Amino acid sequence: MSETIAALSSRAAWEGLQKHVATIRPQQMKEMFKSDPERGTRLTAEACGLFLDYSKNRVTDETLKLLVELAKQSGLEQHREAMFTGQKINTTENRAVLHVALRAPQSESIKVDGEDVVPEVHKVLDKMAKFADRVRSGAWKGYTGKRIRNVVNIGIGGSDLGPVMAYEALKHYAQRDMNFVFVSNVDGTDFAEAVRGLSAEETLFLVASKTFTTLETMTNAHSARDWAMTSMRDERAIAKHFVAISTNAEAVAKFGIDTENMFGFWDWVGGRYSMDSAIGLSTMIAIGPENFRAMLDGFHAMDVHFRTTPLEKNLPVLMGLLTVWYTDFFDAQTQAILPYEQYLKRFPAYLQQLTMESNGKHVTLDGKPVETQTGPIYWGEPGTNGQHSFYQLIHQGTRLIPCDFIGFYKTLNPLGRHHDMLMANVFAQAEALAFGKTAEEVKAEGVPEALVPHKVFEGNRPSNTILAEELTPKLLGSLIALYEHSVFTQGVMWGIDSFDQWGVELGKVLATKILGEIESKDEPQVMHDTSTANLIRMYREHK
Ligand code: F6P
Repeated sequence: MSETIAALSSRAAWEGLQKHVATIRPQQMKEMFKSDPERGTRLTAEACGLFLDYSKNRVTDETLKLLVELAKQSGLEQHREAMFTGQKINTTENRAVLHVALRAPQSESIKVDGEDVVPEVHKVLDKMAKFADRVRSGAWKGYTGKRIRNVVNIGIGGSDLGPVMAYEALKHYAQRDMNFVFVSNVDGTDFAEAVRGLSAEETLFLVASKTFTTLETMTNAHSARDWAMTSMRDERAIAKHFVAISTNAEAVAKFGIDTENMFGFWDWVGGRYSMDSAIGLSTMIAIGPENFRAMLDGFHAMDVHFRTTPLEKNLPVLMGLLTVWYTDFFDAQTQAILPYEQYLKRFPAYLQQLTMESNGKHVTLDGKPVETQTGPIYWGEPGTNGQHSFYQLIHQGTRLIPCDFIGFYKTLNPLGRHHDMLMANVFAQAEALAFGKTAEEVKAEGVPEALVPHKVFEGNRPSNTILAEELTPKLLGSLIALYEHSVFTQGVMWGIDSFDQWGVELGKVLATKILGEIESKDEPQVMHDTSTANLIRMYREHK
């Protein structure tokens, strides 16, 4: 598909945007709002229970028109259809990209290599639901007959970040007499602290790994097995205390887990797009199959919106295009994710993998160097904590940092005036960023002359505000899918493969080599630069 699409810089809309940006740079949002009384209600869009206000961006109608034209000239609609119909758009791995099939209703049919994958998806969901119900009700017993009280998910990257984020996000709906713990780091402290105080007889380990070869996960899984055996002293206990979530049945069996106790998924699900596959088993045990299915419905609703809504009203498309706009025309390096919802505290961390592993690419699909900057750095913290930490730089620093504010009309934990205060802060921050405070306004407050420059807020700093009714499983699904498809939109503009991750490989290979050197009794066969060789020598001497 990429062959038929012109290089980014020669797409007419791109050229148009390059000229156009010169007219936008000097414009102040303050003036844009003044001259257009409808702007705050017009530049909004709504879908799947999510209301997006994108009026506080450095754009005009002309900008949006050009961005949408760019999307069309970049083949967004064709690429989108290629994804939804199971074409192998992850070209460097020759794989389809079908996380959308994970939430497709049973009535749909999506084919990969001529085979409908939807029935398989539902088969696994049913198996997960049966298992989750048994664990939740206590029907599934540990080896010594005790019910499971602790669920430990062992996984890393996509096999960890999604499950942790979803567990935290949906804790309100979780079975509270159970304990959910997540182990990811190969740092032994992670495992040691996770199982501290737990009884092995009441603990179920979910070993989650798409490949079932990831060093960190396998190391933690072996340590978990040793830990469980220390108290239960019988290999037969493994069948009651370990289940696997993977695409690699052979490696699962080799580890000693009965493949009856394995929940499968497929190579067309990328790790960072897998939290709604069997990788979400911990989520399902926590919130129950019904809530999990509601979350899938939320994902699916956003999939339908993304696939069918005109680009100008399409939430993920608008958000993706705005990210391209700031990244490539304003040299923005980062994008802040600021959820004003404590339950979304791990959402920025989850989005880091989703966005940065997807769009941190330096060549286009045909292997040529990209012509522009690609994926920005995503980061963030829940409000209002960030306000007392890094917001200073967003307000008065020298960098342009587009922000996504996320808030809810209703809190799940009503407590006095807390929620009104929280939401007042969302609106205040977005307002302050956009409109700032001039020297005249500062002076009028009687501020001494010398302090005036320090108290001026330049303003003109862009943000989106996303509002929703309440954080439910369904809403969470739609919110995640919103970002998934925004990432997709960005990737299509840049002409990159958003679904591979070759950049993580070199470090893995070198770590394996260095581990051998660290553990060997022989003199290191120094094949490194002098810095690395010296650091390894120091470690060997002092460990
Ligand atoms: O190394 C990166 C990565 O491959 C991620 O893309 C993935 O989510 C993570 O490792 C974990 O992989 P696995 O699920 O195969 O253990």
